[in-house]
Amino acid sequence: MEISKVGVAGCGLMGHGIAQVSAEAGYDVVVCEVSQEALDKGIGKIEKQLGKAVEKGKMEQADADAVIGRIQGTLELEDFADCDLVIEAITENLDQKLDLWKQLDGIVKDEAFFATNTSSLPVADQAAATGRPERFLGLHFFNPVQRMPLLEVIESGATESGTMGVGLAYGEKLGKTTVETKDKPGFIVNRLLVPYLLDGIRGYEEGIGSVEEIDIAMKAGAGHPMGPLTLCDVVGLDTLASIADVMYEAFGESRFQAPATLQKLVGEGHYGMKSGRGFYDYSGDRPVAVDPEL
Ligand code: 3HC
Repeated sequence: MEISKVGVAGCGLMGHGIAQVSAEAGYDVVVCEVSQEALDKGIGKIEKQLGKAVEKGKMEQADADAVIGRIQGTLELEDFADCDLVIEAITENLDQKLDLWKQLDGIVKDEAFFATNTSSLPVADQAAATGRPERFLGLHFFNPVQRMPLLEVIESGATESGTMGVGLAYGEKLGKTTVETKDKPGFIVNRLLVPYLLDGIRGYEEGIGSVEEIDIAMKAGAGHPMGPLTLCDVVGLDTLASIADVMYEAFGESRFQAPATLQKLVGEGHYGMKSGRGFYDYSGDRPVAVDPEL
């Protein structure tokens, strides 16, 4: 089946990016949120990105208008009924995802494909909540979705090869680099990246350097585009803590355990860039490192 209409559940950090790149690739997109405020915020981010691209001469105004014209925002899951592919990008919480899939399974046409953008939760558990596990797969994007070239395409064990083909073709149409991987916690990238980020936090706790020094060191010493503590803020500290919990439970190794500083910041509502504060404060013209103990 040819994919022409893509549904995206969630218009937050990842969902707005998935909706944008899908519309830029020519798909008709329906993006759903739980409140008008959240929807307006997500669509506003897309409009801002497109506005910047036009300003920089990278896109014609007419093309930006066409991209926005292909995106339908909604608060009703029923608007996904005739989508060919539905991707969920809601909170990293299994119960919420299972509840969403149960509802969507009864709404979306039987021949449509379902995909989760989970960072670490089992794809198989979500697939089993639907009547179409063979047409269910993982499509894991990276933040910022508009910039990061990779798409992990995840096979649950029940996913049919034709469904993997649909995921790979969708990724190609978006211009992404695709890799196929298995349904193991963290897949490829987070399996390697998450312990590194958590070690960056542990290093800070042990006093190997200040927040800024740790970031400078990994940029200048290892050629990373951003340091680990900035990257924690980009990923979202709440998301990182959820991934760490899932991976720690799965592997039982201390390198996957969320450090105390991460738990403290999340407990205080400091989620990184998306909330305006994490290891840095983003309220001014440029990020300023904050001592998490303060
Ligand atoms: N959203 C959209 N576009 C963004 C952006 C954002 N948040 N941040 C930067 N950009 C765009 C800029 O507008 C600019 O676009 P242009 O080329 O059209 O002008 C372009 O990216 C380059 O931006 P900058 O020059 O300001 O910055 P950099 O050259 O430093 O690149 C970066 C920014 C691409 C984010 C780079 O720092 C990078 O690659 N960082 C690492 C990010 C990373 O590792 N992401 C993966 C996280 S793990 C994950 O997401 C998995 C999940 O499960 C946890």
